Amino acid sequence: MSLISQQQIDEIIERNDIGDVIGEYVRLERKGSGYSGLCPFHNEKTPSFSVHEGKQIFKCFGCGKGGNVVNFIMLAENLSYFEALEFLAERVGIVLDKSVSKEQEEKQKIKNDIYAVNKLAARFFYETLKKSPNAQKYLYDRGIRAETVKQFGLGYAPDSFDALYKYFANNAIAPNPKLLEKAGLITAKKDDRGYYDKFRNRVIFPIFDVQGNVIAFGGRVMDDSIPKYLNSPETPAYSKGNNLYALNVAKKSQSERVIIVEGYMDCIALHKAGINWAVASLGTALTQAQARLLKKYFNEVIIGYDADSAGQKATLRGLDILAHAGFRVRVLSLAEVDAKVKDPDEFLRKHTVDDFNKAVELSKSLVEYKISKIAEKYPITQLESKAMFLKYSTKVLASITGEAEKDLYADWFAKKYNISKDALLSEIERLQSSGFSEDTDNRTRKIVRSASIASKNKSQSEETHEQIRQKTPEEIKLDKHIKRLILLMSEDKKAKEKYYGKVKEINDSEVNGKLLEKLNERYEQKLKTGVETVLADMTDAPEEDIRLLTDMISKWMRPPDYIQACEEILNKCIIIDCERRLACINEMINDANLNREERSALVREAAAIIKERMKYKNGN
Ligand code: CTP
Ligand code: MN
Repeated sequence: MSLISQQQIDEIIERNDIGDVIGEYVRLERKGSGYSGLCPFHNEKTPSFSVHEGKQIFKCFGCGKGGNVVNFIMLAENLSYFEALEFLAERVGIVLDKSVSKEQEEKQKIKNDIYAVNKLAARFFYETLKKSPNAQKYLYDRGIRAETVKQFGLGYAPDSFDALYKYFANNAIAPNPKLLEKAGLITAKKDDRGYYDKFRNRVIFPIFDVQGNVIAFGGRVMDDSIPKYLNSPETPAYSKGNNLYALNVAKKSQSERVIIVEGYMDCIALHKAGINWAVASLGTALTQAQARLLKKYFNEVIIGYDADSAGQKATLRGLDILAHAGFRVRVLSLAEVDAKVKDPDEFLRKHTVDDFNKAVELSKSLVEYKISKIAEKYPITQLESKAMFLKYSTKVLASITGEAEKDLYADWFAKKYNISKDALLSEIERLQSSGFSEDTDNRTRKIVRSASIASKNKSQSEETHEQIRQKTPEEIKLDKHIKRLILLMSEDKKAKEKYYGKVKEINDSEVNGKLLEKLNERYEQKLKTGVETVLADMTDAPEEDIRLLTDMISKWMRPPDYIQACEEILNKCIIIDCERRLACINEMINDANLNREERSALVREAAAIIKERMKYKNGN
């Protein structure tokens, strides 16, 4: 169904004038640059619903609903985005071509070509490892034997600027260098006179997708130089948040549960120890796409991230995403067996598989883990911090939806922290009712009678999710900044060319990530661009994002200078990033178990960040 091309979506939106369409549902009065009327999505006596003709958006100042013509039909007819598009296409007599489009065929072909050269490259690295005693020794010293090298197709990229390039040139098939560049294997020289290999003097880890295609590579240095790892860039065949390392192996394990670790080496160490149900997220934050992918094969996830604070932060974020995707989630407790190890690889070098399994048995549930984190922050030995501890823990407990489960946890919590279960339950009750009380009354029922129950259920579960994962004020600000940057780039090609990569780097929301990719496609395929196309690209975004973007577009004014506007927002983003890092370091500095050296190193790092922040506050 999602086969409707961006171009076709644009056409459907263009031909369905928003005033005409909404006029079929709502009595509209002409007003200024648009219309106003009574909102069909909530009960009101004075009109707060408005339609902006020029921008082709609607917005209700009463209930907050808003969007473009497709979003209106989604709400009014209770349809998904694509169903709404089909509905609108039919309305104006556009026949949707549901067969695979030429574009998509072309895309698939490029992907296949990249898989083919990647496979050859992987073979080259694998063969080269056999001829490199140094690389062999490195792997041997890290406990890796021939069997594992073979299973994971490990290799070695020689210390040369063109070994791989030459290998291809001499190959019978000799692919076009442009294709190798597209695959991220070689990079064009600055003066455009030839190419050099991307991976040099590194141990190579090929990354496979579930079908077994080689989609990318990671390369590790064999000493302490930096960067420790180099990875393939995003290519038509590889997008970072869409895959998990070793899933092609783990999916065959017949296991109900899967363990997610951070690194290549952690994952390989686990497989070597017979735990063949391990995958790695490769140091990036877990995405919803990855969660959905895992759900095809597993029902329970154990998170085995590093013990450092970055790893723990990633654990917390990952927990919510996984829980929302419907997994039973647990957090591995390596520290309970050995508090000194930092990751699973190190653990298995020191301990037996039995010890590891012990840690698996000791792993904490989502609720236990969150509460233990809160207890770390607010020690219950002091009255004041115990009050804080109780406040935040009850919030966690209030996020549990099942009655039996809630009771079970309340029991456990009351006993463990020595407070009255009745008092706890009534506090949870209070939180839950205040959190969910302002529900949808009978907003949608006015238009969609039959589907009212379904839509009500949906909005409730969405709210529950939001309760669990509340965005911090920084995240909200950053999200807004990034959306602004996307809008700016949609109107100005130069700004897009200059800042696209940077924005992609600082963005950490999935919705914005998709918008960025689609914006890129629009420019690459020379399709229509502009703020309204950004809204059109919000194909399966949460309502919250659609509202925010509609709001921004309704107030949108072209800046006099796009580059300067982008620059200013980016500065703000960098400041937010600095502040985030500072908060993280401050948290670590407050850790009582630090020795003097560790503490002063952290203080130095904090000072450096403060300096960086100053620089950006003063506008570079
Ligand atoms: N990573 C990366 N680029 C870096 C550092 C890390 O892509 N500069 C990714 C890699 O996928 C790596 C993972 O993040 O496997 C975890 O990083 P880290 O814990 O630092 O490395 P380890 O996997 O533990 O690697 P090793 O044991 O070889 O030091
Ligand atoms: Mn490691």
